Amino acid sequence: MGVTAFFYILLFLWVHDAAAIIGFTRSDFAQDFVFGAGTSAYQYEGAVAEDGRSPSFWDTFTHAGKMPDKSTGDIAADGYHKYKEDMKLISKTGLEAYRFSISWSRLIPNGRGAVNPKGLKYYNNIINELVKHGIQIHITLHHIDLPQILEDEYGGWLSPRIIEDFTAYAGVCFREFGDRVKYWTTVNEPNIGAIAAYGSGQLPPGRCSDPFGITKCTAGNSSIEPYIAVHTTLLAHTSVVKLYREKYKAEQKGVVGINIYSYWSYPFTNSTVDLEASQRSKDFMFGWILEPLVSGDYPEVMKKNVGSRLPSFTKIQSGLIKNSFDFIGINHYFSVYVNDRPIERGARDFNGDMSVYYRVSRTDPPAGQGAPTNVPSDPKGLQLVLEYLKETYGNPPVYVHENGVGSPNDSLNDTDRVVYLSSYMGSTLDAIRNGVNVRGYFAWAFMDLFELLAGYQSKYGLYHIDFDDMRRPRQARLSARWYSGFLKKNGSSLLVSRTHEDLTLNTVS
Ligand SMILES: *[C@@H]1O[C@H](CO)[C@@H](O)[C@H](O)[C@H]1NC(C)=O
Ligand SMILES: *[C@@H]1O[C@H](CO)[C@@H](O)[C@H](O)[C@H]1NC(C)=O
Ligand SMILES: *[C@@H]1O[C@H](CO)[C@@H](O)[C@H](O)[C@H]1NC(C)=O
Ligand SMILES: *[C@@H]1O[C@H](CO)[C@@H](O)[C@H](O)[C@H]1NC(C)=O
Ligand SMILES: *[C@@H]1O[C@H](CO)[C@@H](O)[C@H](O)[C@H]1NC(C)=O
Repeated sequence: MGVTAFFYILLFLWVHDAAAIIGFTRSDFAQDFVFGAGTSAYQYEGAVAEDGRSPSFWDTFTHAGKMPDKSTGDIAADGYHKYKEDMKLISKTGLEAYRFSISWSRLIPNGRGAVNPKGLKYYNNIINELVKHGIQIHITLHHIDLPQILEDEYGGWLSPRIIEDFTAYAGVCFREFGDRVKYWTTVNEPNIGAIAAYGSGQLPPGRCSDPFGITKCTAGNSSIEPYIAVHTTLLAHTSVVKLYREKYKAEQKGVVGINIYSYWSYPFTNSTVDLEASQRSKDFMFGWILEPLVSGDYPEVMKKNVGSRLPSFTKIQSGLIKNSFDFIGINHYFSVYVNDRPIERGARDFNGDMSVYYRVSRTDPPAGQGAPTNVPSDPKGLQLVLEYLKETYGNPPVYVHENGVGSPNDSLNDTDRVVYLSSYMGSTLDAIRNGVNVRGYFAWAFMDLFELLAGYQSKYGLYHIDFDDMRRPRQARLSARWYSGFLKKNGSSLLVSRTHEDLTLNTVS
């Protein structure tokens, strides 16, 4: 999501100084492990009304002035026009993989039916560039980017009617791109996405109800819609996986997974109630998506706390959803401390269903009474997430699909980001050495983008973009040069200052 910043909603973090393995090189990871970076369609492409693209619910949301900085993705990083030089830059940087998403409303402007030839050509061009440069391609089908026309017609992810349309859209992608694309993710972050879209109202379609909204919403029901949206998403995901396995897998030999937002939850104290709260936090965060995928049903604690507001699976659905994934993608940015809180005190996290507080430290006030100003890091938290997935869900193949750090700072000398990325890569290596089946690591983001909760107020890019310049020039930050040296020259994660390769292409003209 680059829901970088979902934590602004409710979270505080705790800084651990325990660094992971340091001083590693590319060779410490298996050769077929991939290092990459990512973007997503609305955050990158711009050209929102060009060549037949119809609006997605992002356009509606941003044009209603819903972003804190009133920004839109109308131009964003101008990737629709600059993709070719960007794919070159990806290659020049030495990235082994690239993760991006397809804009459904660019490919199929009516949501179903006719394919837009110019949209098709655009994605074929990108894919062909990546193939030419030998970059492993990871495509997300839905990165919070629904055609507005389907939102208008039946309420998008709140309606089971989306299952058929999403499956048909996915089928077009498999048919058209699947000869070259082997790594498909159905949906990005449905867990946190549903909370932000239908609980707090901070992401499109911006629905919520009192007292749970953080923005003002004109419609919604925060108590029930997040659960409905995730339920529909899981069924749609399952339907897409079924289609791939029945019709495409034998020939195309690819894999299909789903992506979840993840933070690590430490108990605030070792009291029984806090230990239970931290487990509950994991069940609501990971278990909401993974328990159905692994065992066919929601976690018991969710069924108990959410009651009849949590939809249930029929026997047939349960059988279909079980094992309907080939890998799990995780987006990971930070850790939290949680403690128990009685439900009747009300809260914004899952409408109190989860019933936990989040804290940045043992002395800070609970969330809601102040906002963090920066993002301290906890590399160990990523290792703990990865090990938890192994222990709890049968050690599935995992991709760290997003990891990175945002800053309002435009500086090219982003030493903090280098330290952040290298320490999280180190904790990934720790997890691998402890037997976790991690297959790749993607920094968020390849370049500065329109960020989902922050617009242009927070920068995550390895490459800097000047958003005041219509030409959107790209400039390598230190982090891009460091990552490049690590990948291309088998550089040590420590040798930050020795990898100053000049990666800045002249992209201005
Ligand atoms: C939301 O839905 C629940 C369950 O149907 C209902 O009890 C509640 O009154 C609704 N809330 C609002 C604000 O409509
Ligand atoms: C809880 O117990 C663990 C294991 O004994 C310990 O490492 C940790 O520091 C304790 N946490 C707190 C908050 O006391
Ligand atoms: C931005 O980063 C540079 C280099 O690290 C530092 O000198 C400067 O103080 C930072 N500015 C802000 C606003 O954080
Ligand atoms: C970059 O920042 C680091 C620490 O923030 C500082 O030591 C170094 O001198 C800076 N380099 C440049 C070229 O400004
Ligand atoms: C990479 O560097 C490490 C540490 O110097 C070394 O052990 C390894 O053999 C190198 N690998 C390659 C492919 O050069």
